Amino acid sequence: MAKCSAPGKMILFGEHAVVFGKPALGLAIDLRISASVTASSEYTVNERPMKKKHHAYISAALDEAWGGPPINVDTFSQIPSGSGLGSSAAVTVSSVAAMLSSKGRLSQEAVAKKAFSVELKVQGRASPTDTSTSTHGHGVLVSPDEGDGLLWRIEHEGSVWNIHHCEVPEFDFVVGYTGIHASTGPLVAKVKKLADRSAEARTAIDRIGEIVLEGAEALKARDKTGLGRLMNENQVLLNGLGVGHPSLDGLVNAVKPHSYGAKLTGAGGGGSMIALTDDVGSVAEAIRNSGGEPIIVKVGSEGVRRED
Ligand code: MEV
Repeated sequence: MAKCSAPGKMILFGEHAVVFGKPALGLAIDLRISASVTASSEYTVNERPMKKKHHAYISAALDEAWGGPPINVDTFSQIPSGSGLGSSAAVTVSSVAAMLSSKGRLSQEAVAKKAFSVELKVQGRASPTDTSTSTHGHGVLVSPDEGDGLLWRIEHEGSVWNIHHCEVPEFDFVVGYTGIHASTGPLVAKVKKLADRSAEARTAIDRIGEIVLEGAEALKARDKTGLGRLMNENQVLLNGLGVGHPSLDGLVNAVKPHSYGAKLTGAGGGGSMIALTDDVGSVAEAIRNSGGEPIIVKVGSEGVRRED
């Protein structure tokens, strides 16, 4: 009936703080997930019976965006699950988009809003950063304030996230995947608990919000040195929020001599780190020598699209 694909993402600045309504900057990457929706005699995923627990995002997407007769959802992923590179967002966005386009016209705003509701339902607490970046592609600046390039606005429980288009220069990033699968929901809950009792954590969250805006300016000015410095500072603050991991620190430290800056990306607790560099080969080698899996990505990829 319809097939759509959506990109994964890396968060350049602002993960976790954005759940508290602070800004964040997400970049779409050139690894995608596709979802195709076909008529079926029962609800299935990749031709197997759909299980609410095992197929949490697709099953929530059905509730949010389908409401029709049974379908089979076939997915194909280039993104390691739990890697911090937006596999949950991309599977949600591509599934929602395939369901909505089977019923009519595809609107990015409708997809982004429904996909955010799905993540919220599955994760408990969430921001629309991952799902809006996967939907729009390119770069996305999420902010409580409205600015140039506004795409849409999402509100939930007192937080307001204005989603803006952001131009992405052709900079080279290398991802270092720790191989450690980390679930976003528990890490987001952990930061909330810490912020509720620690003024220091709340100050760190505020500073991350400022880093995002300084980072957006540095990106516009193509200032790699400035971006790298901000990435390093953001990494220290994320460790202070308890979402780091020794294996992430190992990779971040290993790439330092060959990069402008490096930090974890996404929820942390394992998953992946990213480095901004002019020397992709040396960074990839340093990651491999430290036990990580290097993934060389292009940033600024196209958002959700039909594939049929
Ligand atoms: C996960 O990729 C990003 C977090 O900020 C969670 C969210 O924004 O929903 C940790």
